[in-house]
Amino acid sequence: MSDFVSGFWDMYVRVIVLASILACGVFLWMQSKGAPAVAAGAEAEKMDHVWDETLQEYNNPLPLWWSYLFYITVVFALVYLALYPGLGSNPGMLGWTSHESQYGAEMKAADATYGPIFDKFAKMDIQAVAANPEAKQMGERLFLTYCAQCHGSDGKGAKGFPNLADADWLYGGTPEKIKESIAEGRMGVMPAWGPQLGAEGVKDVANYVRSLSGQQTDSVRAARGKDIFATNCVACHGPDGKGNQAIGAPNLTDNIWLYGSSEATVIETITKGRTNQMPVWKNFLGDSKVHLLAAYVYSLSPVKAEPAAAPAPAAAPAAAPAEAAPAAAK
Ligand code: HEC
Ligand code: HEC
Repeated sequence: MSDFVSGFWDMYVRVIVLASILACGVFLWMQSKGAPAVAAGAEAEKMDHVWDETLQEYNNPLPLWWSYLFYITVVFALVYLALYPGLGSNPGMLGWTSHESQYGAEMKAADATYGPIFDKFAKMDIQAVAANPEAKQMGERLFLTYCAQCHGSDGKGAKGFPNLADADWLYGGTPEKIKESIAEGRMGVMPAWGPQLGAEGVKDVANYVRSLSGQQTDSVRAARGKDIFATNCVACHGPDGKGNQAIGAPNLTDNIWLYGSSEATVIETITKGRTNQMPVWKNFLGDSKVHLLAAYVYSLSPVKAEPAAAPAPAAAPAAAPAEAAPAAAK
């Protein structure tokens, strides 16, 4: 319940809150002294100021009705703090919490309504769920709530966030692999090569990498880069640069880019490396929602991968850098 690490701050907050409320009450009482007398017809005290020869300022007490309203707010504050959490770490006499009492109750109600529907789909295999229009609608709603901020509302991704609506996959496009990506999360780690290869070495290998997808490159540099690639990069990206879905190392030959194809971007990627994280969803969403989402994502892909990953149809090899079109990002 308490976010405080020591009792001191708890007391500190309690004392300040209670002292402020009581001070309001006392101040009010001081200011409304004399009000009953004035109400009964007594002359109010005059101040020393006189303007325009005759205009004088009275020191009238606050109107009674107004003071009473104010007293009520003071009492309300005290009663509220006694019943509900708010005074330091005091949980309040009603034991109400926003998490359990309100959010928890709403979640229970939602589970009662939608639980059986989710369960029905959770028992079907992902390919069958992907073909079901009702499931697709539910999947889309979940996707828009939990995934669209990174992958885009159409699933087409953005720089650093993979496109889920193409046939190219970092970790695999089979129903099982997609579900695994969502349930367990993913962490793509491309090491930084700047220190080891130096600026020239990085530029050479960047030229080689770009030549793999048919971009215009400096052939002398690309030739030197080929050796650097063979020594340092094939362990993850494969001897032919086609990547490795077991560790999420992208295919560098298909002209689909996670970060961009321009020479500057490729150099930046290689020099500084990239670390990219897809959150773990199984704990937060639970298996049946993850299942539905996996089916939805599977349904987005134009070419459905059967258990063995289908080869990615490369986007038309662009002669000009495809940087300007983020939709070309992987
Ligand atoms: C905070 C941003 C973020 C959110 C939210 C997010 N993702 Fe991701 N997702 C990523 C990143 C980043 C990657 C790529 C990880 C990498 O490069 O290794 C990724 C990868 C994936 C992959 C693997 C793609 C491939 O090519 O193999 C799938 C599938 C996926 N996300 C689905 C989802 C779904 C479904 C949701 C909603 C439940 C979701 N993501 C929410 C950031 C996010
Ligand atoms: C330890 C494995 C590993 C090694 C070694 C490695 N990479 Fe990578 N590389 C990755 C991973 C994983 C990613 C994807 C990072 C992500 O998900 O953000 C990546 C991404 C990239 C990208 C970005 C591709 C895109 O679509 O934007 C380029 C370019 C790249 N690597 C080039 C290289 C080069 C050149 C070398 C050798 C100097 C190299 N990599 C060595 C694992 C590796």
